Amino acid sequence: MKTKNKNISRKKIIVANWKMNPTSASEAKKIFLGIKKELKGVRGVDVVIAPPTPFLAVLAGLKPSSAFFKFGAQDVFWESKGSFTGEVSAKQLKEVGASYVIVGHSERRKLGESNEDVSKKVLAASKEGLRVILCVGEEERDSHGNYLTSLQKEIKESLSGVYGARLGNLIVAYEPRWAIGKTASESIDAEELHAMSIFIKKTLASIYGKKAGLSIPIVYGGSVEPANAAALAKSLVDGFLVGHASLSPGAFAKIVHAVK
Ligand code: PGA
Repeated sequence: MKTKNKNISRKKIIVANWKMNPTSASEAKKIFLGIKKELKGVRGVDVVIAPPTPFLAVLAGLKPSSAFFKFGAQDVFWESKGSFTGEVSAKQLKEVGASYVIVGHSERRKLGESNEDVSKKVLAASKEGLRVILCVGEEERDSHGNYLTSLQKEIKESLSGVYGARLGNLIVAYEPRWAIGKTASESIDAEELHAMSIFIKKTLASIYGKKAGLSIPIVYGGSVEPANAAALAKSLVDGFLVGHASLSPGAFAKIVHAVK
């Protein structure tokens, strides 16, 4: 299959998912300032930094002058306030500088988050005006293609009740779990990613109709590194969700340049 990029006009989104790294605010600042320096003068992409929640305010407080830097959280709760020990609301995340939030990451689903929980989070966050990066992806592959059915189910159930104006805030991140936290050579290849982007687009079109469904950006995550970023960027995706490589300013900048 030919992997020709037909999404050329859409602004690319590159998300740095730092997960539970680094361990101190000063280290977080150092990585962010390193990325900022590496990307000096770059335009035309949205770069979203998603640090651990305690460092959101620290980084947003640096007021990066480059317009394309945005900040994101790695999770959110669906209630807006009240007796929910340990949870953080969408409004509270906005208050500390987040304009994006990752929802339903496989590492959270592994801790027990259900599709129903995820859909409530998507709704609450988008209602509050946050851009939601909804993560979906199969655990493993099988030769009968059952993984496609389970992926479709995950997408549909995670988006249950998400309609209308909320769709404008939605980004779908395709993150096959078998490809997360590995190396570029163990990640998905460009042809396969192209095929999966079409499959996800078709699924979204079946839920929302062609126009609305196809307008939802799709990003890819799972061992995106400088070595595979340019090849993967040729598929139909609108950007990347980058884990381990986003903690290295040099590697992350190479990925951003590859997408541009
Ligand atoms: P990875 O993580 O790039 O380290 O595979 C991606 C993710 O889990 O979002």
